Amino acid sequence: MELKISRVTKQFFEKIAVDRVSLNMKPGVYGLLGANGAGKTTFLRMICGVLTPDSGEISLDRFSVKEEEYRNCLGYLPQKFGYYPNFTAWDFLMYMAALKGISRNRAKVRIEELLEAVNLKGAEKKKIAAFSGGMKQRLGIAQALLNNPKLLVLDEPTAGLDPKERVKFRNMISRLGKDRIVLLSTHIVSDVEYIADEILLMKEGSILHEGSLPEILKPIEGKVWECRVNSSEEAQILEQYAVVNMREESQGTLLRVVGEESPSENAVSVEATLEDLYLYYFAGEGGE
Ligand SMILES: Nc1ncnc2c1ncn2[C@@H]1O[C@H](COP(=O)(O)OP(=O)(O)O)[C@@H](O)[C@H]1O
Ligand SMILES: [Mg+2]
Repeated sequence: MELKISRVTKQFFEKIAVDRVSLNMKPGVYGLLGANGAGKTTFLRMICGVLTPDSGEISLDRFSVKEEEYRNCLGYLPQKFGYYPNFTAWDFLMYMAALKGISRNRAKVRIEELLEAVNLKGAEKKKIAAFSGGMKQRLGIAQALLNNPKLLVLDEPTAGLDPKERVKFRNMISRLGKDRIVLLSTHIVSDVEYIADEILLMKEGSILHEGSLPEILKPIEGKVWECRVNSSEEAQILEQYAVVNMREESQGTLLRVVGEESPSENAVSVEATLEDLYLYYFAGEGGE
């Protein structure tokens, strides 16, 4: 199974939201990481066939994104998802199953399985209005899995999850990625650091870096430094280096910087993290 994306582009008026992106994906978990406005949602919507690219091709094995066979292989959790607050979780899943053309009898069996899988067993008769953010997200994932999709696309699935729910979510995604393509977007570095087999770093409509964690960290390996400095030294370093973190302390400022050479006599080389890489490329940009 392979998802092939070839020079896909989308422009809104003057804004090129997605700029000639090409990617090939095999089963596994792909983390699409980028600041708000990077083009993640636009890209995912094109992969899900709800937005037509201006140019480029998208196909899963021999089926193009425009074909029904492609849609039948797809599960999608949009970033903004309408949940029908007065529905119970059960009724909502039955309704979504009907939209996907799944028979009532098959749907009942499948929904039982999915409630188990997303840890909502026992909550199915509750109204969605009474659900926590995490429960709603898990319900959203359940509806995306109704047709047992080979391609699962989740747009910011961890939004609104508390730390405990995040851990559960990561475990679930790892399991799902064993035999299907899971593509999830996020602007939170730690969401992809541990669960993604492949990280896609997106900025201004382009994929800047693609690879496993060690692979994408290569460009900054041996180039991350920490040093404690006084205010005059601080000003000089801020001017010459990409500062990825700074912390005011009583003995001076602790700086974490990315640069070819040591920024100061007392600087020590530290291990590069995805957070460093992300901040290095997105310095001064939105996000939270
Ligand atoms: N329907 C639209 N009409 C006009 N501009 C849009 C539309 N959708 C997205 N954009 C613009 O495209 C860029 C990428 O947006 P989006 O794909 O939502 O990014 P992300 O999901 O990474 O935050 C942004 O500048 C956004 O304002
Ligand atoms: Mg988005």
